[in-house]
Amino acid sequence: MNNRILITGALGQLGKFFIDSLINQGNYVLATDIKNSNDLNCDFEIFDVHDLKKGDELIKKYKINQVYNFAAILSAKGEINPAKTWDLNNAGFFNIVDICLKNKINKIFWPSSIAVFGKNSNLNFASIDEPMCPETIYGASKLACEKAMYYYNFKNIIDIRSLRFPGIVSNSKPGGGTTDYIVDMLFSAAKKKDFTCFLKNDTVLPMMHINDAVDASIMLMSIDKKNISINTPYNISSFETSPSKWRDTINSLGYELKIDYEVDFRQDIADSWPKKVDDSLLRKDIDWIPKFNEKETALDILKSIQL
Ligand code: SER
Repeated sequence: MNNRILITGALGQLGKFFIDSLINQGNYVLATDIKNSNDLNCDFEIFDVHDLKKGDELIKKYKINQVYNFAAILSAKGEINPAKTWDLNNAGFFNIVDICLKNKINKIFWPSSIAVFGKNSNLNFASIDEPMCPETIYGASKLACEKAMYYYNFKNIIDIRSLRFPGIVSNSKPGGGTTDYIVDMLFSAAKKKDFTCFLKNDTVLPMMHINDAVDASIMLMSIDKKNISINTPYNISSFETSPSKWRDTINSLGYELKIDYEVDFRQDIADSWPKKVDDSLLRKDIDWIPKFNEKETALDILKSIQL
C-alpha cells in the first residue's frame, strides 16, 4: 500500500496490532505516544496530541500521508477525571485534523465506540443513527467528535473514516475500559487463577477479535471514497457475549476457570451500552465479515498469551 502512517496513542490497546498489520501490508509506520517505548516494531517518537508544533514537525520530518488517531482515555478511567478526558479526547481529534489540514494530509482513521449510545437508544439492536445520550464523558466526547467528523466529511474538508468499536479481545491488557473483563478473564484462565468480575454474569455486550477490528479498519481506509455511504462512523461487531457465557466458552476449550462477581460502577456504564449493534451497512460497503466467532476468538487469543 506504501502509505506513510503516523499513529497516535500507539502504546494503547490497539496500537501494536495496527502497526504489525500496516507494516506487513507494505506501509511505513511512525508510532507515537506520551511515554517512551522500545517494544515496537517501527520508528517511535514521543508526541502529546496537545502539541501542535511537534505534530507538525513529525509529519514533515517523516513525510506522513495518513494518521491513525488512537490517543484517548477510555470509558471507566474517564469517569475519574471528566474534564481531562473531554480535553484529551476532543483536543486530540481537533489537533490532528488541524495538523493534517496544514500539511495537506487528506485521510484520517479515528475510532469511535459503542459508548456513544445511551439508554434512549435501542440497546437490543442499535442502528447507526439511534437517538444517543451517552452516560459517560468518554461516550460524550466520542459523540462530539462524531458530529465534527460528519461536518468535515460533509463539507469535503478532510476525509475522516471511523468505526464504532465494541469490546476488543486481544492479548494486550486494555486498562480503563468497561469491556476490559473480556481480556482479563483470558489471562486468569491462562494463569489458572480464579477471576473476580466487575460486571454481572448476564451483562451482554458486543465484542470482536482484534484482528477483525484491524482488518476492517484498514479495509475501510483502503476503499474508494465513493463506496463510503455515510459521513459518520459505521457500527461494527462480531459476536455478543456476557461474563458467564465467556467463562463457559473458555471452559469449553479445556480450562477450569472459576469466577465470582464484585460488581462496581462499570455495571451502570455497561447497562447504557448496546447488547448488539447493526453493522450490516459496513459489511455491505466494504464487503467485510469477521473471521473469528466467540469460540475461535477465545482459542486464538489464549494461544497467544505469554505468561
Ligand atoms: N472498550 C471501550 C471501553 O470499554 C469502549 O470503546 O471503554
